[in-house]
Amino acid sequence: MKLWLRQLKQDVPADLDTPCDLARFELESAMPGIPVELCERAAMGDAYTIDPMDGNSYRICGGSTGLLYGAYRLITDYLCGISVSSPVSSAPKYALRMINCWDNADGEIERGYAGRSLFFRNGLLDYDIHRIRMLARLLASAGLNVLCVNNVNVHYPAQLLLEDYLPGLSALAALFRPFGIRLMVSVDFSQPMRHGVPTADPLDPAVREWWNRTAARVYDAVPDLAGFLVKADSEGRPGPFTYGRNHADGANMLAEALKPFGGVVIWRCFVYNCRQDWRDTKTDRPKAAWEHYAWLDGEFADNVILQVKHGPFDFQVREPLSPLLLGMKKTNLAMELQLAQEYTGHQIDLYTMMPMWKELFEELPADNIMSVAAVSNLGDDDNYTGHPLAAVNLYTYGLLAWDPSVDAASAIVRWCRLTYGFRSDQEQTLVSLLLSSRRIYEKYTAPLGIGWMITPHDHYGPNPSGYEYDLWGTYHKADRNAVGIDRTHAGTGYLDQYPEWFRKKYEDPDSCPDLYLLFYHRLPYTFRMRDGRTLIQRIYDDHFEGLEETCAMAEKLLALPFPEPDASVIRDRMNRQLYNAREWCDIINTFFHRLSGIGDEKGRTIYD
Ligand code: GCU
Repeated sequence: MKLWLRQLKQDVPADLDTPCDLARFELESAMPGIPVELCERAAMGDAYTIDPMDGNSYRICGGSTGLLYGAYRLITDYLCGISVSSPVSSAPKYALRMINCWDNADGEIERGYAGRSLFFRNGLLDYDIHRIRMLARLLASAGLNVLCVNNVNVHYPAQLLLEDYLPGLSALAALFRPFGIRLMVSVDFSQPMRHGVPTADPLDPAVREWWNRTAARVYDAVPDLAGFLVKADSEGRPGPFTYGRNHADGANMLAEALKPFGGVVIWRCFVYNCRQDWRDTKTDRPKAAWEHYAWLDGEFADNVILQVKHGPFDFQVREPLSPLLLGMKKTNLAMELQLAQEYTGHQIDLYTMMPMWKELFEELPADNIMSVAAVSNLGDDDNYTGHPLAAVNLYTYGLLAWDPSVDAASAIVRWCRLTYGFRSDQEQTLVSLLLSSRRIYEKYTAPLGIGWMITPHDHYGPNPSGYEYDLWGTYHKADRNAVGIDRTHAGTGYLDQYPEWFRKKYEDPDSCPDLYLLFYHRLPYTFRMRDGRTLIQRIYDDHFEGLEETCAMAEKLLALPFPEPDASVIRDRMNRQLYNAREWCDIINTFFHRLSGIGDEKGRTIYD
């Protein structure tokens, strides 16, 4: 399937070598009869200009990849019916616009909801060339340029990507190259120990030597590899802590090995105690990343980028911006988003992420980070993303990574128009359903920023106390009077990790935005919200509304003329979402009703 490129009828020929060749091919086949002159200016890199010329023709200037991005811009404008009548000039905000695939070598995808791996089968790099080429075309048309091919949890035999599988990696990189996409590999920090080095201590000369030699071999096979992605000392992964070293020691050691080849180390900051005792009230998991990294600000080599999840927990429906993204001014940072709907409906429930990303960028100065990454929502399902409408997240992520100031609604309109070409009233219906889908999901799931009331491990469906007595540091501490954790200065002190302007917005429960209330505060159910409702009433109202709005959404969505096979898949998933929304609504309301003993003012049914 060609998703948002469905109108590009011809397949990309296998013999195109460069992004510039590809740009020429795409323009000639998508806009036949419209002359487009391509001027390659290497120094422009990914940037491009488009100039309308006399007589319905255009000139695109850019580096080789810039020409390709310019071509896709012109083609998609053309297909959307937007006429380019004045000069356009565009350059990406972020040089690395990354997709992180969590694919295991056995073909399973960690947190994958769209089938099995597109890259691996039975422990081997083994893929369908046509599908990879189509995927590369889709990613390039959205402006993405780096793909990490394997899971951050490097399970054997994925280590072989740096060893016996290098020729295969080289062949895969060649498939992506004409599309301007460079590969990246997740590496196992302890990998030298597979080769007789007795330690993985980053300050040990033998270890450094092993990585230097390995980098040379890897770059010999894949000269344009973007670099290594590393999950260290996190959820059981090996890392520098074993040797009494810090994360600058670890990252800088790999950076030294990659430096001669222009590679980067993407070092993830998802480090916390995942063996916490629930009785321990001193440790507050969201504080962990700051405690591990903030003091190392300025200590990382210039080809290290710290990759920070957007929130301090783990991709919940609503989390504040991670304090690291606001506070580490002397370090290269990338923000990590998650397209895979791990906590947001498994690509069964409709959940369009653009509104959430725009909220993040309202608080995050775009220059605080230098790259963006997103955990992939891809798999080998025919439609690549399981739910046909989940592709909107992949496409709009590309637009956001190129320009974080992009308007949410117009990005979604563009995707809808390219994908379905509906009549304008139908298009408006679909766009408004997509725009509201995140808020609806948020309403029927865990309330007001508290998160984590989800079925443990699998992360689909409600289980209000599933994580309450567990090891993961994710507690809400609801009792008969109150719910939440006080994260202000008087409480765990989490808010102290932020600059003053940020702290001020959230520290007083009377002025804290409602949707974040229970992230920062422990409050009695009788707490009066600014609109006069009690907290418990707000929880009931949100849940009933979330369910009602899901029912209304289903009605509108199922009346749209989706083509097959999308129509059947959408119908099936919408029915599952309706079931899920009802479960969430009733279970969460019952949970709080039983605890608090307070009834719903509006007398709606809550099950005791
Ligand atoms: C979450 C997720 C894991 C993943 C981890 C990570 O904890 O559930 O599957 O490995 O995040 O981001 O590394």
